[in-house]
Amino acid sequence: MTQSSSQRTAGEKELLEKARRLLPGGTLGNITVRDDLDFLVREGRGSRIWDVSGNEYVDWLMGSGPMLLGHAHPAVVEAVVKAVEQGSTFFATNERAVLLAEELIKAVPCAEQVRFTTSGTDACFIAMRAARAYRNREKVLKFEGGFHGTSDYALMSVTPSGALEFPQGEANSGGIPKALQELMLIAPFNDLNTTESIINAHHDEMAAVIVEPLQRVFAPQPGFLQGLRDITARYEIPLIFDEIVTGFRLAYGGAQEFYGVIPDMCTVGKIMGGGYPLAAVLGRADILSMFDQRSASSEEWINQMGTLNGNPIACAAGLATLEILRQPGVYDRIHATGKKVKDALVRILAENQVPAQMCGENVVFDVFFTDKPAINYRDGSLADGQMMARFNAGLLERGILKGTQKFYPSLVHTEEDVERTIAAFEEVAPTLKG
Ligand SMILES: Cc1ncc(COP(=O)(O)O)c(C=O)c1O
Repeated sequence: MTQSSSQRTAGEKELLEKARRLLPGGTLGNITVRDDLDFLVREGRGSRIWDVSGNEYVDWLMGSGPMLLGHAHPAVVEAVVKAVEQGSTFFATNERAVLLAEELIKAVPCAEQVRFTTSGTDACFIAMRAARAYRNREKVLKFEGGFHGTSDYALMSVTPSGALEFPQGEANSGGIPKALQELMLIAPFNDLNTTESIINAHHDEMAAVIVEPLQRVFAPQPGFLQGLRDITARYEIPLIFDEIVTGFRLAYGGAQEFYGVIPDMCTVGKIMGGGYPLAAVLGRADILSMFDQRSASSEEWINQMGTLNGNPIACAAGLATLEILRQPGVYDRIHATGKKVKDALVRILAENQVPAQMCGENVVFDVFFTDKPAINYRDGSLADGQMMARFNAGLLERGILKGTQKFYPSLVHTEEDVERTIAAFEEVAPTLKG
């Protein structure tokens, strides 16, 4: 069918060689592919990207989520160019940041105030600090397999080595102080009973519960998020939704609009920065006001500064992105595109007798290669990882790029993109059993 994406020019081979020497593992630390398929991105437009050799890919990775309008959307490019001409960064509060804050508050149900950061890692780290300051308690409950960026706190039990007894966690990176292990409580996603018993036992030491409302690609079981809301409200423990992925993706108002459960705070990033470095903590004014420098002398003041916080270029990209997302029918279209790909994948795997569970929602999903239902990290970890690697590589060989365990549909994926992707599924599925 499509080109063999493994054809490399001498120029790209040389750059790849350089990357291997100059960057640890030859990468930016985000995604690795099989050596013979390794490539360097030259550019992206709409739903497609091109490598340095000129091979074209249908892109379902989409920058790992931010590019909901596709690469180099003309309206975003125009807004960014205009902003760049007016200066790159000021440190002083800028006009575009205020305008974007206004849009975020209009869009996101829990948002009364906004604190900008530059990355999702930063936003989640700061949201947890804010909850600790507000509650004057130190422990935060997160869910096994949940990813909230790469701060020392967030990297607890993202990929634990074994089935630890809850709420015990394990640091999944070198260099994390052992002492922090005691400060994070770990619970199983989609298991309300176990989570409730952990909160019942520890509520008096707890600052917050942080959760991806759709964890990686595990959708919340009916009642799970509402249950979390009820338990945390009972003890007045702030509930933080990490909406770095789900914000402006599941719906304009994020997962809290889509699932109808409102947290006390949330973090947003990716889409709201239009592909530029921007993220934010949103939430209740009585918590967010603790960032106010006018109370810097008080013990509860939350200290958070950043040279590029609310950067005007990123805010311009965010404002242009949100304007398009407010147009009627946008979300129906993205959901419809994702559903076509998702349904086709389920059908084709079944026709080829490949055991698989489809997880997620239409706008972010993937399969796990297992015949058992998968609703959380432990279920997913029993799936066939080798088969996933063959699936991803088989697609990449055919010019279809996706995340290691995620498809990200966008507004600009076309009928032809969907057809090319489905044709690749048809070719790859029979090879999966190896
Ligand atoms: C749910 C979630 N939270 C936080 C982050 C961290 O965001 P960033 O990569 O901008 O630091 C990510 C990144 O993918 C994420 O998926």
